[in-house]
This record gives sequence, structure tokens and C-alpha cells, in this order.
Amino acid sequence: MKILVPILFVFVAVSSFVTLNNTKNTTKAIAKDTMMADRQRQIDELKVKYAGKLEMPADSVFKNIKTLKGKTVEGVLSVMNNWGHALGVTCKFCHDLNDFSSEKPRHFNQTREMFDMTAKLNKEILASLKTFRQPVTMSCYSCHQEQKEPPH
Ligand code: HEC
Ligand code: HEC
Repeated sequence: MKILVPILFVFVAVSSFVTLNNTKNTTKAIAKDTMMADRQRQIDELKVKYAGKLEMPADSVFKNIKTLKGKTVEGVLSVMNNWGHALGVTCKFCHDLNDFSSEKPRHFNQTREMFDMTAKLNKEILASLKTFRQPVTMSCYSCHQEQKEPPH
């Protein structure tokens, strides 16, 4: 009989943990869905605007390409969606929606610094780890996990 008490305790602990986790995931999924739709709408609008130019080098079409030199127009738009996804934000977090080339929004140039930092991390620091099987890489998502600021 006595053995039943700890078993029951463990069962209750586990099931309440599962319930907690489920509620958390549901709210997160809803928030993510609306932002995904919002980003997709912006991208679709730009794809119409730049129809016929999607395969062209981005810096020959856009006004302010520095970090993403070498990508096509479509390639840049795809990175935009990835960054938004990694930080759990819409395009507005980094952009003036009336002028995507504007550096005024604080997060625009911050993102360029983060991009250079991530590149350096991958090419210099992680690539030089000797006791790990290469390649060891990190992305925006590794740290941010769909949050503006990475969890502490
Ligand atoms: C985390 C910040 C961030 C998010 C989110 C983001 N962008 Fe960007 N975007 C940038 C940065 C930084 C650049 C400049 C890239 C470079 O220097 O090559 C840029 C460049 C652009 C450009 C080229 C502007 C020009 O004329 O030079 C377009 C268009 C653009 N983004 C559209 C979008 C769209 C659409 C979304 C949403 C789906 C989005 N961005 C989400 C940071 C962001
Ligand atoms: C090694 C971990 C790491 C990686 C990789 C990383 N970040 Fe960050 N990022 C941080 C930290 C930590 C902060 C918070 C800095 C602070 O205290 O203000 C931050 C902050 C930011 C901010 C400012 C957010 C705010 O609310 O002020 C932006 C924008 C950003 N990161 C974009 C990116 C993008 C885009 C990438 C990928 C190209 C990236 N980060 C990759 C760790 C990382």
C-alpha cells in the first residue's frame, strides 16, 4: 500500500507538467501563425512588385544591400522570412514599411552587426573547435529561438 503514495505523487507531478507545457505551446503556436501570415503577405506583395526581377542580383534591384551581397532578390526575401521567424517578429520590427531600405529603425543596423557576429562565430570560432565533429554551426535561431532577445 505504502508504495502507491510515491507512485501517485510522480503521476500527478508528470501530468501537471504536461498540461502546463501544452498550454504554453498552444499560445505560442497562435502567435507564430499570425506573424507568419503577416510576413508572407509582405513577401507576396514584394514578389508582385519585383516580378521578372526575382533572379537578379539583389544589389542591382534594391537600394541598400550590404550584408547580403551575392544573393538574388528572391534569396534576400527568403532570408527576411528566416530572420523574422528566428526572432518571432514581423517585417516591421526592423523596417519602415514605406521604405525597406531605411536604416532609421534601430533593429536594421543591429541586425547587420548580428549577421557579421554570427558569420565570425561560424567561420572563426566554431570552425576551430578541435574536439568536435565539424561542421559546428550556429544560426540566429540557435540563440533567439523565436524571441526578440534570446532567453537568459
Ligand atoms: C531582423 C531584422 C529584419 C527583419 C525581421 C526583416 N528584415 Fe528586411 N532587411 C533587414 C536588413 C538588415 C536588411 C539589409 C540587408 C543588407 O544589408 O544586405 C534588409 C533588407 C531588406 C530589403 C531590401 C531593401 C533595399 O532597398 O535595400 C527588403 C525589400 C526587405 N528587407 C524586406 C523585408 C520583408 C518583406 C520582411 C518581412 C518578411 C523583412 N524584410 C524582415 C532586416 C530585417
Ligand atoms: C550567439 C547568440 C546570438 C546569435 C547567433 C544571434 N544573436 Fe541576436 N542577440 C543576441 C543577444 C544576446 C542579444 C541581446 C543583446 C542585448 O542585450 O541587447 C541579441 C539581440 C538581437 C537584436 C536586438 C533585439 C532587441 O530587442 O533589441 C536583433 C535585431 C538581433 N539580435 C538579430 C539577430 C539576427 C538577425 C541574428 C542572425 C543573423 C542573430 N541575432 C544571431 C544573441 C545572438
